[in-house]
Amino acid sequence: MTSSERAQIVCYPEADVPDELRAQVLRLQREAWPYDEPLEVGPVHDPLLRPLSMLLLDGGRVCSALDVLSKTIAVGGRSWAASGLSTVVTDWALRRRGYGCRLVEAARQRIAESGADVGLFTCDTPLRPFYEAAGWELLPGTVLVGGTVADPFPSDQFDKVTFGAFFSPAAREARAAFVGSRIPLYSGTIDKLW
Ligand SMILES: CC(C)(COP(=O)(O)OP(=O)(O)OC[C@H]1O[C@@H](n2cnc3c(N)ncnc32)[C@H](O)[C@@H]1OP(=O)(O)O)[C@@H](O)C(=O)NCCC(=O)NCCS
Repeated sequence: MTSSERAQIVCYPEADVPDELRAQVLRLQREAWPYDEPLEVGPVHDPLLRPLSMLLLDGGRVCSALDVLSKTIAVGGRSWAASGLSTVVTDWALRRRGYGCRLVEAARQRIAESGADVGLFTCDTPLRPFYEAAGWELLPGTVLVGGTVADPFPSDQFDKVTFGAFFSPAAREARAAFVGSRIPLYSGTIDKLW
């Protein structure tokens, strides 16, 4: 058994992550995104997006972490329960050992079991092989429009690609409406895009 297979996954609403684990997650995030605002131990995501923190632990050490964000979106004339991944990070000293992939696969499973219709998120184009290895589907040409209706924040202003998963039968049938289109995510002003 590899060390990533031995590690244990725990999930908490972001606001309920125990302080000791939370401090480790914030350290990993600060190392990965040093130019973001200084982080405090409290939650960083918009509570309206029901942030769920998933942590991959080896003993008491956080090896990888991510947050699942969720909201209702309107596509193709109806609403869908959508969830996506945010702030996916592996401790730099533990990268390329399969930890991140295992956590991102588990998040896909967790979102499927949550009753969400679709999984949707963006990532920097160079990370495409990572999310493909973890079972997510590349949606060619799909753009997520974050921000707000008054101040949209589209993913195609960056070098990003969109990944997805279609969980409910209705979402599988409506797949064509999500591929190659601009999706009104409107995730707000705190999590401008995911
Ligand atoms: C992206 C990240 C989470 C990957 O975590 P990880 O634990 O190293 O990933 P894994 O070991 O599970 O990688 C599995 C496979 O994904 C691919 N992969 C992993 N990191 C990659 C990278 N940086 N670029 C391209 N492909 C990558 C590889 O195919 C890898 O398999 P291999 O090592 O056998 O070649 C980690 O590099 C990280 O924390 N980066 C900084 C933060 C970041 O950019 N997060 C993503 C936000 S969208």
